[in-house]
Amino acid sequence: MLQLNPNQTGIGNVTPDDFFTQDDEFTKLQLNIIAIHVVSEEFGADTFEQSILRAPTADMKMRMAKTVMEEYGHHLRFRKLLEDLKLDWKEVTKNKGHLTTFDVPIDTWADQMVFLALVDRAAAHQFRHFIKSPYEPFRRACQETLNEEYGHVGLGMDGVKDLLRTPEGKAEVAKSVMKWLPVGLASFGNPNSKTNERYRHWGLKSDTNEGMRETYYQQVKAFITKEWGVPLPETADEFIQQKLGGNLSAHAIYVAG
Ligand SMILES: [Fe+2]
Ligand SMILES: [Fe+2]
Repeated sequence: MLQLNPNQTGIGNVTPDDFFTQDDEFTKLQLNIIAIHVVSEEFGADTFEQSILRAPTADMKMRMAKTVMEEYGHHLRFRKLLEDLKLDWKEVTKNKGHLTTFDVPIDTWADQMVFLALVDRAAAHQFRHFIKSPYEPFRRACQETLNEEYGHVGLGMDGVKDLLRTPEGKAEVAKSVMKWLPVGLASFGNPNSKTNERYRHWGLKSDTNEGMRETYYQQVKAFITKEWGVPLPETADEFIQQKLGGNLSAHAIYVAG
């Protein structure tokens, strides 16, 4: 059954055949999201690749390698969406930078595990909106990607659980939380974003950046405080004020996962 985000335009299901007959703003915003993923999924895969040999066991090496493989797959999957529209993907993405999320280096195995548990989770939250977008092939690509993102988040959660068994590992996890939670929170974008308003207008998203950020924060706060033993303020706003001096935009703007 087709379930789309609420939108204010009455736009229904869009197929490749009628993609370019849509309003210019819709096609532009949709192509922009696809282009961001084409660039960032490959960059993310390159970044993750170094973590394979950092994994402590063969089992974890294999799971990390699978994650890297799937991230390259995400790049190819979003690239195909452009190719299917007869667009030159290199041309479309040539002025697109990768997501700033990946500008903070992943230095250790603990870093990689907390990244997957927190930042890939933030990406999954975005994909939950994208799977209800009007453009049918995009919706399908996002659903396939989301299924794999849940696996990446699961690997992160398992990796952290192993680390929590020793005091040193516990300390590393606590340090990585303070590194990646700001990135996860920032990935939802600025408050009162005009772009988010347009994404909602066209049914590409169904919640405000602040709304998505708070939902995400409450979810991660529950296990970070109870299971990981790291105390956190009540709300995302309080975290941003107390830990980041109110400055969220210094961290990241968007996440591909
Ligand atoms: Fe991804
Ligand atoms: Fe991922």
